[in-house]
Formats: sequence, structure tokens, C-alpha cells
Amino acid sequence: MKHVSKSELQTKEIAAKFARKLAGGEFIELVGDLGAGKTVFVRGMVEALGSTARVKSPTFTIMNEYPVQGEHVTKIAHLDLYRFDDESQLSALELEDYINDKTVICVEWPDIFGKSPFEPTHRVTIEHVDVDTREIIVNEL
Ligand SMILES: Nc1ncnc2c1ncn2[C@@H]1O[C@H](COP(=O)(O)OP(=O)(O)OP(=O)(O)O)[C@@H](O)[C@H]1O
Ligand SMILES: [Mg+2]
Repeated sequence: MKHVSKSELQTKEIAAKFARKLAGGEFIELVGDLGAGKTVFVRGMVEALGSTARVKSPTFTIMNEYPVQGEHVTKIAHLDLYRFDDESQLSALELEDYINDKTVICVEWPDIFGKSPFEPTHRVTIEHVDVDTREIIVNEL
């Protein structure tokens, strides 16, 4: 599914619609340049599921967790591998154990160490078109 967003707000609306359709247990990779809007997209998802938390890049923590009140989803976990300094941190996370049917995992820069080590269910690709325009492609894998 391809969308064109003309503003940060529109990106959050596209993310919100996507989030409301999730069944729980999804693993979502977010791909796009620096400043494309990946974190904005996750923020739209978290807000759509009833959290008032402000989603920020996980900079000092490896992973941020947001409790949400979706019908099927009660937690969104947000990772940004760009801010990881080494790959071994990743296996230490034991993300596999983390996946359960009420949690959704969102990962920015999943392929920063080469090939993505995950088995994602969805990939969101955001292309930077101009200063406020983004092309957002949501693929179910
Ligand atoms: N249509 C749009 N959709 C999303 N963000 C937009 C849009 N137009 C402008 N922006 C701006 O682009 C920036 C996107 O920042 P964001 O942190 O989400 O990028 P990112 O892809 O997560 O980058 P990084 O790889 O550094 O984490 C924000 O400053 C936002 O206001
Ligand atoms: Mg980001």
C-alpha cells in the first residue's frame, strides 16, 4: 500500500490507520533515510492506540516500551539500531522471547549491520520526496 504524506500530521494519520488494524504480535521494520519520518510514524502508532507518551528516538536506552490500550495490542516496543554501537547488544536483547501476541515491535534501521537479522511481518518504507513530502509504502511480508 502506497501513500503520499504532505506533513508530519498526515504521516501520523497514516500510521494511526495502520496501527488500528494490527492484531498483535507484529514485527515492523521501518526503512528510510535520516529524517525520513520513521520515528514520527511510530509516534502516530503509539498515539492511535491511546498512549499520551511522547515517542522519542531510543538514544540512551536500547529499546523504549510504550504501554498502549489497543483492543489487541497492549505494548509497543521501539528500537533504533542506528544508535547501537555493536551488534552483540542485539542478541543480548533476546527479541524472540519478547514477541508475544499483545506486543508489537518497531525497529528503525533494521539492516544497519548488513542483512536484517529479523523475520519481520511488515516493512514500512519512507522516501524523502521534498521538505514536507514523503512517500510511505507499507508492505505486509
Ligand atoms: N510528511 C512528513 N512526514 C513525517 N515527517 C515529516 C514530514 N514532513 C516533515 N517532516 C519532518 O521530518 C522529520 C522526521 O523526523 P524523524 O525523527 O521521524 O525521522 P527518522 O526517520 O526517525 O530519522 P532517524 O533515522 O534519524 O531516526 C521531523 O522533523 C518532521 O517534522
Ligand atoms: Mg528515528
